[in-house]
Amino acid sequence: MLEDKDRIFTNLYGHHDWRLEAARKRGAWDGTRALLELGHEGVVDGVKESGLRGRGGAGFPTGLKWSFMPKEIGERPHYLVVNADESEPGTCKDREIMRNDPHIFLEGCLVAAFGMRAHTVYIYIRGEYIRERERLQAAIDEAYEAKLIGKNNVHEWDCDIYIAHGAGAYICGEETALLESLEGKKGQPRLKPPFPANVGLYGCPTTVNNVESIAVAPAILRRGPSWFASLGRPNNTGTKLFCISGHVERPCNVEEEMGIPFRELIERHAGGVRGGWENLLAVIPGGSSVPCLPASTCADLPMDFDTLQSHKSGLGTAAVIVMDKSTDIIRAIARLSYFYKHESCGQCTPCREGTGWMWRVLERMARGESSYAEIDKLLDVSKEIEGHTICALGDAAAWPVQGLIRHFRHVIEDRIDNYARPGAAAAE
Ligand SMILES: Cc1cc2nc3c(=O)[nH]c(=O)nc-3n(C[C@H](O)[C@H](O)[C@H](O)COP(=O)(O)O)c2cc1C
Ligand code: SF4
Repeated sequence: MLEDKDRIFTNLYGHHDWRLEAARKRGAWDGTRALLELGHEGVVDGVKESGLRGRGGAGFPTGLKWSFMPKEIGERPHYLVVNADESEPGTCKDREIMRNDPHIFLEGCLVAAFGMRAHTVYIYIRGEYIRERERLQAAIDEAYEAKLIGKNNVHEWDCDIYIAHGAGAYICGEETALLESLEGKKGQPRLKPPFPANVGLYGCPTTVNNVESIAVAPAILRRGPSWFASLGRPNNTGTKLFCISGHVERPCNVEEEMGIPFRELIERHAGGVRGGWENLLAVIPGGSSVPCLPASTCADLPMDFDTLQSHKSGLGTAAVIVMDKSTDIIRAIARLSYFYKHESCGQCTPCREGTGWMWRVLERMARGESSYAEIDKLLDVSKEIEGHTICALGDAAAWPVQGLIRHFRHVIEDRIDNYARPGAAAAE
């Protein structure tokens, strides 16, 4: 279990005051100047050494991403864009950072912007997060007032921070759709390359990072990259915010050590599975996009990127959705399919057509109105979508369906058998 001394988010639950004075007493903005004295390269190298991987879902190494930015400011300004869209179903961690610990996040914005030689930071916040935006703006105002950010600030690195409010589209969390939306256009993903570090916001070098990735940066540099790297295991380091929801006794957000075993996470922090451990059916370990895992495989699984990937799932955003045996797993995945169909931006044919097709088939399958052959057809179609689209929404729509078929084919077949029995449909 993560010891209190290793906790980065000391006000995750909002038990203390979020304002600047109180945040400073908890350690925010403490010696920030010394962090900047590491120099641009020093900041980037420190984050690299810590092994931090992006907390927005894909797990890309954060320091490496920062190092893709040009080493000099040329004719085009550099931008840091923070992704606070937080729309992945099950995920609700960035929200808690922004409303309860906004100052450690803002300090992270300054430090990361400095590392990448950016003087401007945009925070793109989810449309529904109205109170969070107000809180964050109030914290930004305090930071300007105290000359921690802005022009001629005490850290001697000019840094303006602006908030942009989304309008409730999941696809605007995809980094290039987010940039389009920020530019005032329709939020549709761009083809890559070019990557944002070369051609990003307004055609300028840009890095997009998740709120949690940015918020942990000052603690990493202050306590030392080796401290962060000593938590978890190589390539899966540090502390992580887990969002535990679904059929547990006490759904919660919690900061834990990367790699905590699944059962320990659930029993220690969420009061266990509703009705006891034996009542567990399956878990979606990383937000709705990742394939589910059946109860039989997950008890001792370390919750980290590499382990979950080796089990054909993923840590994603670490939004752990627990399903007990009362769950109709086909209907649950059909509901997720409906979400992806609804959120597809429509640019790519496999995603636009395929997401709706999968949803309609799953709706029938949930009733049993299908055939064994159609299960294979559904798997085939999901593979035609996966990897054949402009952005990862196509993969995100395909993976839950593949997880269902991989682990719960027997449930689909039973439903079909049951439907085919004379009189069974009428009895339903
Ligand atoms: C459809 C879709 C939605 C996404 N939504 C979010 C989101 O809400 N928040 C987020 O940080 N990343 C989201 N991402 C991932 C971003 O594209 C990007 O990888 C991330 O912001 C990078 O930050 P990180 O390197 O700090 O993880 C989404 C990706 C896709 C494909
Ligand atoms: S995969 Fe889907 S959401 Fe992504 S660009 Fe293509 S149509 Fe749009």
